[in-house]
Amino acid sequence: MAIRSQVVGCGSYLPLRVMSNDELARTVDTSDEWIRKRTGIRERHLAADGEATSDLGLKAAQAALEQAGLAPDDLDLIVCATATPDETFPATATRIQAGLGMTRGAAFDVQAVCSGFIYALAVADNFIRCGQARSVLVIGAETFSRILDWEDRGTCVLFGDGAGAVLLCAGEGRGEVADRGVLSTHVYSDGRHHDALYVDGGPSTTQTTGVVHMDGREVYRHAVVRMAEAIDAALEANDLTPGDIDWLVPHQANLRIIESMGHRLNLPRDRVVVTVDRHANTSAASIPLALCEAVSDGRIRQGDLVLMEAMGGGFTWGSALVRW
Ligand code: ACO
Repeated sequence: MAIRSQVVGCGSYLPLRVMSNDELARTVDTSDEWIRKRTGIRERHLAADGEATSDLGLKAAQAALEQAGLAPDDLDLIVCATATPDETFPATATRIQAGLGMTRGAAFDVQAVCSGFIYALAVADNFIRCGQARSVLVIGAETFSRILDWEDRGTCVLFGDGAGAVLLCAGEGRGEVADRGVLSTHVYSDGRHHDALYVDGGPSTTQTTGVVHMDGREVYRHAVVRMAEAIDAALEANDLTPGDIDWLVPHQANLRIIESMGHRLNLPRDRVVVTVDRHANTSAASIPLALCEAVSDGRIRQGDLVLMEAMGGGFTWGSALVRW
């Protein structure tokens, strides 16, 4: 019988500090009106001084374990998607592993920027389907505020900090139970687009952390095309049509991009999960944060078909389809 990765818990964490557009407009030449109109963002959460990516990831991980009723040593693997690790090495996932008190299994990071959660989910799903792990914690955690140029209005208004986690377990049930879980993942990249979105630092080049640089229009242009392709790939692989999808949980970068993906699927607005207004773009954390919100408030229910898609620096992009 085929093994399938089933979602048994999810959790999220947002730092306490909230920065509104108006507050931002006091230090950089922008306005609440411009930011809302172009992006849909109203506010973002920012990590406190000394609060690291692993601190956010750990809180999300603990919430996911608690919801699933599992203990850290029940886990075989932690995959953490992040572009803002605590340190160059070791992996942020190992710090989360230590924070949980997990003394077995393995933990490592995945780096695909805003597509990181889709990539991490794909890795976890493959570990489970190959039989190499039975329970995997997939985390998206970011402190993007640390790699922003707070004087560059073209980028600093767009991002926020946060973390989300999803716990997958191998399921081999029959009938309806066997239908639940990750149905497919698709991941892609095209490294020729490095210059459209990158951080100008790193251990082997500048020996500094660097800050985000972005050609917003170029990113926008590619995002709508690539994410639409990833959606089509998910539907085709599962022999489904847009009408079969119950929920779209997109990467939360920009309301206009999110709406155009919802429109493409012909989904009513209330079937598209939106958090970008309150979280801004939290990169790899944006999908699990949105997912957890829609699960905990009862929108996403068992049996629902949930489509996720993302695109990020690289470029990287992808989609995942899950029967909840
Ligand atoms: N406040 C006020 N004015 C601004 C701001 C700001 N924060 N930022 C830029 N402007 C100005 C520019 O200087 C420019 O002024 P000018 O005409 O006098 O030169 C004007 O606004 C228009 O700038 P554009 O960059 O052309 O504005 P655009 O309509 O493309 O919107 C935006 C910019 C919102 C970044 C858009 O391109 C976008 O959403 N791109 C996608 C980027 C994205 O989502 N990146 C996230 C990472 S990748 C991902 O997650 C998919």
